[in-house]
Amino acid sequence: MDMQVAKKKLGLKERYQVMTRGLDWTPSYQKMEDIYPYAAYEGIKIHDWDKWEDPFRLTMDAYWKYQAEKERKLYAIIDAYAQNNGHLNVTDARYLNAVKLFLTGISPLEYMAHRGFAHVGRQFPGAGPRVACLMQSLDEIRHAQTQIHSLSNYNKYYNGFHDFRHMLERVWYLSVPRSFFDDAVTAGPFEFMVAIGFSFEYVLTNLLFVPFVSGAAYNGDMGTMTFGFSAQSDEARHMTLGLEVIKFILEQDPDNLPIVQRWIDKWTWRGYRVLTLVGMMMDYMLPKRIMSWKEAWEVYFEENGGALFKDLARYGIRPPKWLDQISFGRAYRIPAGCLVGRRSTRWNEGPFSS
Ligand SMILES: [Fe+2]
Ligand SMILES: [Fe+2]
Repeated sequence: MDMQVAKKKLGLKERYQVMTRGLDWTPSYQKMEDIYPYAAYEGIKIHDWDKWEDPFRLTMDAYWKYQAEKERKLYAIIDAYAQNNGHLNVTDARYLNAVKLFLTGISPLEYMAHRGFAHVGRQFPGAGPRVACLMQSLDEIRHAQTQIHSLSNYNKYYNGFHDFRHMLERVWYLSVPRSFFDDAVTAGPFEFMVAIGFSFEYVLTNLLFVPFVSGAAYNGDMGTMTFGFSAQSDEARHMTLGLEVIKFILEQDPDNLPIVQRWIDKWTWRGYRVLTLVGMMMDYMLPKRIMSWKEAWEVYFEENGGALFKDLARYGIRPPKWLDQISFGRAYRIPAGCLVGRRSTRWNEGPFSS
């Protein structure tokens, strides 16, 4: 009798490889440029999309399982909060202005991120990043929905929550977050990935979510705290994707470096302008304060971001331009290019033309 040889089990990495690669095909009667019209015009050169290593190795079925679990927990807490009249336990009615700021300035951006990732997922010729973009697109619409659902409870009792979508297009200070995402989604797919996947998700979301969420917790707002944590757990994945994309682009061709560097400079500055909303909330709007905007910037940008850019130095990337003008030591010096009549007259574009 033949001896039974136990089949060698595939490792996680090989198993994922077998399940996900080689499923796409090379088109025969349509040109690649016609199918992926945006893949080349930004000047980024990709020679081998298969070099893309998926950082998560997540299958669609595992993805739905994880997300469903998060949703169940989130909605259980939101229901309990609403049924117990949790809105009466916030520190002070003034706190709700911070929540309105979030709903009008941030939640619509989550939705725009959903649209943007759906778009670039379609435009990238590589199968690996397409799947990663698909999952992030789904995450982002989940964030928009869970935020709107959580905050709808306040709409029953307080005014100013009813028309956030309309406000984004009409309220003056909201032109800052709005133009940020409008410009990102109308850029090419690679610039979108550097702008949102890297500069926004990797460099700046901690500054957005951590202060808002801890501010909410500190002021008794369980609803905001819960959706914040639920979204933040997806952010780890988004941040990894942003970083992987940057490394992948830089490894593919040396010509990509100056383009990517320019995008990092631009989008760090643009992101910094969006974060003035968070700065305003932290320094002026929380009845019980957690830390100052200056302290948050030092911890989450200067320390964490500093370590990141040290890491990227081996790819030739230097820290974003104009950092000295952002940092608080010299915060009140007006950057030269911001003066009307100089290179850039659009104040939210920063001291360099785009
Ligand atoms: Fe998000
Ligand atoms: Fe995200």
